[in-house]
Amino acid sequence: MHVSALLPLAALVPATLCQLNTLAKAKGLKYFGSATDNGELSDTTYVSILSNTGQFGQITPGNTQKWVYTEPTQNTFSWTQGDVITSFAEGNGQLLRCHNLVWHNELPSWITSGTWTNATLIAALKNHIANEVTHYKGQCYAWDVVNEAFNDDGTYRVDVFYTTIGPEYIPIAFETAALYDSTVKLYYNDYNIESAGAKSTAAQNLVSSLKARSIKIDGVGLQAHFIVGPTPSLSSQISNLKSFTALGVEVAYTELDIRFTSLPPTAAGLTQQGTDYANTVSACVETTGCVGVTVWDFTDKYSWVPSTFSGQGEACLWYSDFTLHPAYYSVVSALGGTAATTTLVTSRTTSSATATTTTASGTVAKWGQCGGIGWTGGTVCVAGTTCTYSNAWYSQCL
Ligand code: G3I
Repeated sequence: MHVSALLPLAALVPATLCQLNTLAKAKGLKYFGSATDNGELSDTTYVSILSNTGQFGQITPGNTQKWVYTEPTQNTFSWTQGDVITSFAEGNGQLLRCHNLVWHNELPSWITSGTWTNATLIAALKNHIANEVTHYKGQCYAWDVVNEAFNDDGTYRVDVFYTTIGPEYIPIAFETAALYDSTVKLYYNDYNIESAGAKSTAAQNLVSSLKARSIKIDGVGLQAHFIVGPTPSLSSQISNLKSFTALGVEVAYTELDIRFTSLPPTAAGLTQQGTDYANTVSACVETTGCVGVTVWDFTDKYSWVPSTFSGQGEACLWYSDFTLHPAYYSVVSALGGTAATTTLVTSRTTSSATATTTTASGTVAKWGQCGGIGWTGGTVCVAGTTCTYSNAWYSQCL
């Protein structure tokens, strides 16, 4: 546990001047966002943070727009669960990244076990896209039209679409999406394309080939499911993003999380996680044409990682108990957080007091650090504020 059950909500929600979406927009991005899923929306603490547009200006449905949910039986469509998320975003005034139309995973059995010809599967593909894009028309900032079509060596992933239709299923998907919503941004989305390599090159070639045929593609989503430590450097991420934007598409980090491969993390590991998060966010900020960063849920409580990678996790910016990872403050800093906020970052990583957080009377100013492992600075908060536990490394005068 990182927090007392009695911790007031105010301690879990950083002040406006260090909130992610506010800072991201001030830096010129369109949004800082998060994925979410239906089951999580009954958690009131979770919802209060996700609804805060200072923190999150964009939402991605993590599951319920996928094919298995939206067309469980051929030509019978079910929007109920997806609509819960889209209504949530709309109610909060948050942008929506819609996810996804064509993917090898989360397909209904009528697709994966069906008997298909080239013509019948193309018809089913077009029908699915036509119906889903039409249903969500006007609600999405962007659609992930095709998700994860390549292997790490840059060859096409073999799935039912590739096997039956060949690589042409991708242009067909983009053409169909464009036909039913001419204004939504159409994205290709994949992982392991965040630095130069065969898979990134394959995605770039896809963009070039679609554009050469005048087929609409507006963006490339780089998922950024990373591991603490071996994440691409800042410079390699920037040059990779520029390889895409040079082709005339926008880019976004669409599923960012950075997991520990063994738990619990060490203090050094948490610092490294902060560096890694900051590098990816900075790469977006420093690249013209990078429109935003989406985390693949903001709290470890609802991260996909532990159920997929046993024994791994703590990949998000909030711990399971909704206290903040140190990496949160690294992201704030990367987004140009205010002097007061930057001081908090310095204090956390160096465990030393700074003049700007200490008042003339020797007490710690509002927002200043007042405790945490290794903390040697002041522990008495200025009148009107309380030293509030955030996590083992950090308490703050609030
Ligand atoms: O909703 C059912 C629940 O009723 C049932 O009791 C439970 C038992 O297994 O399963 C629940 O569904 C799970 C669903 O997540 C909702 O939690 C599925 O089994 C599980 O496979 C599904 O995993 C999702 C995964 O995609 C596969 O679709 C993850 O939540 C989701 O975060 C993950 O997201 C993907 C992106 O779409 C694409 N990029 C990679 C990313 C991470 O894998």
